[in-house]
Amino acid sequence: MTTHWILGPGAIGRLLAHSLSPFVEVAVIGRRALPSRQVLTTPEGNVHIQHLTSLTAVQLVADTPESPAFVHITTKAMAAEAALSSIASALPPSTPLVLWQNGFYAQPRITETWPGPVLCATTTQGAYLTGDDGVVHAGRGPTFMGDLDNQHTGLSEALAALLSETGFTAAAVGDIRSRLWQKLAVNAAINPLVALHGLRNGELRGEAYSSRVVAVVKEVTAILAKEGVAPPNGGEGDTAWLALVWQVVENTANNKASMLQDVEAKRFTERGAILGPLIESAERHGLGCEVLKGLDQELTLLEARF
Ligand code: PAF
Repeated sequence: MTTHWILGPGAIGRLLAHSLSPFVEVAVIGRRALPSRQVLTTPEGNVHIQHLTSLTAVQLVADTPESPAFVHITTKAMAAEAALSSIASALPPSTPLVLWQNGFYAQPRITETWPGPVLCATTTQGAYLTGDDGVVHAGRGPTFMGDLDNQHTGLSEALAALLSETGFTAAAVGDIRSRLWQKLAVNAAINPLVALHGLRNGELRGEAYSSRVVAVVKEVTAILAKEGVAPPNGGEGDTAWLALVWQVVENTANNKASMLQDVEAKRFTERGAILGPLIESAERHGLGCEVLKGLDQELTLLEARF
């Protein structure tokens, strides 16, 4: 039986572990071990209990286990490289990694430094934790995967096929880079503003915030054009990007975005993985990005108080 290691026992990590576990051997790896009895609540409200192997990175490295077929890294974006380093000595350098992070920070860095295949996944599966032993699968959504240089299509297809068997709607794609930037663009327009002002996503439509969303999207549109990322849905320029953002705001009007949840829990946000690559790209291409820099600065000040 092949083995999948899941590094980072957050909501997506545990959803993956529950889903994969009937099909392949799974080990969930974190900074501390979780109870082996784990509960999954499905979107329909059904409760499944499974026993999952849970190890700390220290235990795993000391045990010198058999090499895994895949290592899924499901930590927050800014923690992915450190998490990989914590188990790297137990991994053959040819081990395929699958990066599940938001933004576009961990993906290019790990692709550049890891000798083996690095797949990137982007998902709209919704999940949240209810404690050390519980995860709720709140909503189903598609998952796309591929590698940044399109060198490992067969591997992406094999993984997508396995995930589809487990109940994910998963597909291998040749444009994962654009898809990651597209998700990042939506996150940049929604997350910082709702996190800074304590808003549900839908409140961005109000008079006080809608012009700020427009200003973010204007800067993001210019940056993505330089990055060679086409506007969504065959549209043009900031009209197309803005339409996508308003559509997501509409669909998630009652959501507390992930960045707001981080701020409320006094956790560091993913600003470095979402605003960081946009600001870095703007600077590289000689574009102004005062609005994005302002949001990043405000979030930095907020995080300094945690
Ligand atoms: O980060 C999030 O919470 C989500 O990606 C999104 C789309 C902003 C909806 O809340």
